Amino acid sequence: MSAPLSLEDIRVLKSLTQWWDQAGVDVLVPLPEERPRRSEPRREAAPSEPRSAPAARATPQAARAAGYGAPAPSGEDARAAAAKADTLDALKAALEAYDGCPLKVTATQLVFARGQPTARVMGGGEAPGREEDIAGAPFVGRSGQLLDRMLAAIGLGPEDAYITNVVFWRPPGNRKPTDAEIAACRPFAERHIGLVKPEFLVFAGGIAAQSMLRVNDGITALRGRWGEFTPDGGAPIPALPVYHPAFLLRRPQEKARAWQDLLSLKARLDGQDA
Ligand code: URA
Repeated sequence: MSAPLSLEDIRVLKSLTQWWDQAGVDVLVPLPEERPRRSEPRREAAPSEPRSAPAARATPQAARAAGYGAPAPSGEDARAAAAKADTLDALKAALEAYDGCPLKVTATQLVFARGQPTARVMGGGEAPGREEDIAGAPFVGRSGQLLDRMLAAIGLGPEDAYITNVVFWRPPGNRKPTDAEIAACRPFAERHIGLVKPEFLVFAGGIAAQSMLRVNDGITALRGRWGEFTPDGGAPIPALPVYHPAFLLRRPQEKARAWQDLLSLKARLDGQDA
């Protein structure tokens, strides 16, 4: 039996968990170096020990069981699964069934899209945050509220845009998605655009713009410059990278540039070449 915790142990644990909470850490996942090496014998639970951790949203055991360290489906499998979907409902169902993105293990749920799929404008952000993970809808937290105000400023209401992300599950602690996580979701994000076929695309932030436009420039260089995204078998769609609203919340002095970009979108919507 392990020794009871001292008051000092409890104090240290409390301050550690408070610090994790403030840093946004709400789930523990195994890092690659924490996984047992092949030559290490597997540690079996002693008969008196519980075989699995008490029910938790995600545990290292659950993470391993659900695919960490197991070969992920190849990009080809993901592309084939995405291509087979010929409606948005089918694409959502294909994502629900897809185990190729490890973020699925730690996230609460899939975050697919919100808004009107027949809208002229489709907006794509990076990945869901905490509020989106809980609500199951993209851009519902503070940055989403700013995004809505930005769109409203050029006359676009909630039904005038269709909003999604290029990564469909929340990265733990709201960290940036890795290249592998972005690549695992990319076939679905691309098919998403191909099914919606908006008149205009807006990519919020560097990660969304870089991954969909397949460029390496930072958002400061990309923002306000129209590019194009061509879905498989479809026609090119004009695409505008803009600053991410979360960045604008941290750097309100950049809102003037964001406003210029919104005016450029408005000019295109009004049929003017901007
Ligand atoms: N940031 C994003 O990029 N997407 C969201 O859905 C929320 C915050």
